[in-house]
Amino acid sequence: MLDLSYVRGQFPAFAEPSLQGQAFFENAGGSYTCQPVIDRLFRFYHQRKVQPYAPYPAAQAGGAEMDEARTRLAGLLNIAPDELSFGPSTSQNIYVLSQAVREAMRPGEAIIVTNQDHEANSGAWRRLADHGIEVREWKVDPETGHLDPAELEPLLDESVRLVCFPHCSNVVGEINPVAEITALAHAAGAWVCVDGVSYAPHGFPDVDALGCDIYLFSAYKTYGPHQGIMAIRRELANLLPNQAHSFNGDTLYKKFTPAGPDHAQVAACAGMVDYIEALATHQGVSPREVAGLMHAHEVALMQPLLDYLGTKNSVRLLGPTDAARRAPTVAVALQRPAEGVARDLAQHGIMAGGGDFYAVRPLQAMGIDTVKGVLRLSFVHYTSPDEVDQLLAALDAVL
Ligand SMILES: Cc1ncc(COP(=O)(O)O)c(C=O)c1O
Repeated sequence: MLDLSYVRGQFPAFAEPSLQGQAFFENAGGSYTCQPVIDRLFRFYHQRKVQPYAPYPAAQAGGAEMDEARTRLAGLLNIAPDELSFGPSTSQNIYVLSQAVREAMRPGEAIIVTNQDHEANSGAWRRLADHGIEVREWKVDPETGHLDPAELEPLLDESVRLVCFPHCSNVVGEINPVAEITALAHAAGAWVCVDGVSYAPHGFPDVDALGCDIYLFSAYKTYGPHQGIMAIRRELANLLPNQAHSFNGDTLYKKFTPAGPDHAQVAACAGMVDYIEALATHQGVSPREVAGLMHAHEVALMQPLLDYLGTKNSVRLLGPTDAARRAPTVAVALQRPAEGVARDLAQHGIMAGGGDFYAVRPLQAMGIDTVKGVLRLSFVHYTSPDEVDQLLAALDAVL
């Protein structure tokens, strides 16, 4: 069982006087930052803020920390260190990848996108239609938001080169069977790009076991600094054309990052692994088993919230009502604009958000008025039962 008081002790926000009494339920927009990340950022800015890798001690230490972050994160994700790269954000990483894929494809070839994705893993790919690439849409069930692998199969044929889908949608919350979908796509000869932004905060995945060619997520939602992280498997990375400075094209972890790296933030990403490893040691499990502990805690806290929302006629709960099938990113459509409801909840010490969360396509696919938007209640493993009780009481007062 997860030791919640140990977990919360690793996040300074829980000891911050100005945040006392405030229960944080907008984690899908960006999580609290763990202490090791803050310590590493502080140390970098104080002691290493020079050109990394230059031949003087501060530069050597800074460069070594950047390499350490990449190597240790890659280890946690079960990929090789040069298959992991950092970029400013997942949206930008996907944009750059879409340019590489465009150059590698021929007009008439096809890609598949979903209408369950956040715009980041949708719009950049759809725009390749302007370059003669056929874009096919794998559609959600308009009632439930469910993405059925059986609906993907008829879209796959020999002209499809890439299938893009989310590990978990940031409004539907359902966990998609990545390994199963990847196997279908690979059998048809297509590469696979998975947006893991809404999934990774609930347990870092074993990317090798998932089998996908590209896996992306955002460090600022996984207890880290504001960086995008992408895993690109070697076979595909070698095939795609360089998007960076010409002399960086032979280095896989530089090839798809045209921007200069944010040295301090890249280095601080090692703190995410410090946290997971420390938690694993504390709990007596392996770092990869931490995901299971997080999931069990989140499911136990989420089910009462789903059950409560299910009893309210005035709200439409998106995604599964069974907590075990989803992440605790719980969106509901209401009869009034969601932003106003979030403002009312703030009066009760609840930090939650209302809007479209850049998931305009999935909301429209489910017939939801995107002007009213949805109220999103999202938490992670550091959330406590007391905070969920506070949320339930606040919802009761506001809805
Ligand atoms: C599911 C999902 N994908 C992609 C993104 C975009 O990530 P970033 O802000 O790093 O560009 C978000 C951001 O909210 C998201 O929720």
